[in-house]
Amino acid sequence: MPKSLRSILCLHDFEAAARRILPRPIYAYVSGAVEDGLSERLNRQAFAQYGFVPNTLVDVSGRSTAITLFGQSYAAPVGIAPMGITALSSYRGDLVLARAAAAAGVPCIMSGSSLIRLEEVMQAAPQTWFQAYLPGQQEQIDALIARVQAAGVETLVLTVDTPVAANRENNVRAGFSTPLRPSASLAWQGLTHPRWLFGTFLRTLLRHGMPHFENNYAQRGAPILSANVLRDFSDRGHLNWEHVAAIRRRWRGPMVIKGILSPRDAALAKQRGMDGIIVSNHGGRQLDGSIASLAALPDIAQAAHGLEIMLDSGVRRGTDVLKALALGARCAFIGRPFNYAAAVGGQAGVAHALRLIIDEVHRDMGLLGVGTVQDIDAQLLRRTG
Ligand code: GLV
Repeated sequence: MPKSLRSILCLHDFEAAARRILPRPIYAYVSGAVEDGLSERLNRQAFAQYGFVPNTLVDVSGRSTAITLFGQSYAAPVGIAPMGITALSSYRGDLVLARAAAAAGVPCIMSGSSLIRLEEVMQAAPQTWFQAYLPGQQEQIDALIARVQAAGVETLVLTVDTPVAANRENNVRAGFSTPLRPSASLAWQGLTHPRWLFGTFLRTLLRHGMPHFENNYAQRGAPILSANVLRDFSDRGHLNWEHVAAIRRRWRGPMVIKGILSPRDAALAKQRGMDGIIVSNHGGRQLDGSIASLAALPDIAQAAHGLEIMLDSGVRRGTDVLKALALGARCAFIGRPFNYAAAVGGQAGVAHALRLIIDEVHRDMGLLGVGTVQDIDAQLLRRTG
């Protein structure tokens, strides 16, 4: 294991290490939430509000973390959540995340707000799920979905908690925007973070040219650094279930809606023929004050029985994963820590992060007294908060 990873013992440890490496605006984009950061805090607090009631004297010597999702076997009930512009925070970020997840046998969702062509990632890691942000116009949606299908994506994730842009004050304060605007302070941030400047940014420029948003639309979008290009943030506030239904009619593989917090929406997703949902408040990055994903989970699990229910937002520990499973999720997705891990150690960093969290799940299952993930249910939890 590279020396830089040896002192990293849990997912939390990646954050401080990445903070030293990344220019301030980029670290702020990844770490930041929205407005007062309320939902981000609620996410963590929600996990603390449940305690375990372990079973004892159960033979856990042969325990397994394996799960099946959409007919596919995975090594653990943990996956990599979609994150935007990961190829800016680490060299070839989307590829690094997808390859590390494939090697560990866990699901990885590639974000549509990304700087490497989807086709390249699908070639490197053909099981990768793709998360689309739907464009505003029907023809643009059709073209994007046709492209995603042609790229060989099987599992399509639609994120639905971004009808309008969120109020990311922290990005403004830190000088982050898309595209980034060249400035003296941005140059200073680059020069004072040489590992990132040479190892990620200049290396990318030299080998692959200026990164552009590649996957928001069927065609290439804006560059990541430009003095005057405007990114197309055209309105998608009118999108509704009919747009989803139109995609459902064409999409043959599993379809997942991400960003659901209400049992009513979960029931609608089921009614509309979705295969799964990801209960999520987007890591606290959209509507500040929206409830924690974990708090939303029990009612959703009841309302959408039969759907594959997954969760993200605030998961950092194996115990968090087990709490999500006990309350009805099949798999827990984790975002920021894997982004930091890629910044700190590239693919080896992400592999280390995955090993840490999967080991935690495996150890915690032993301590909880369960042999398989199917044995994990609400009887093993008490609300203590
Ligand atoms: C992208 O999905 C973001 O939250 O920045």
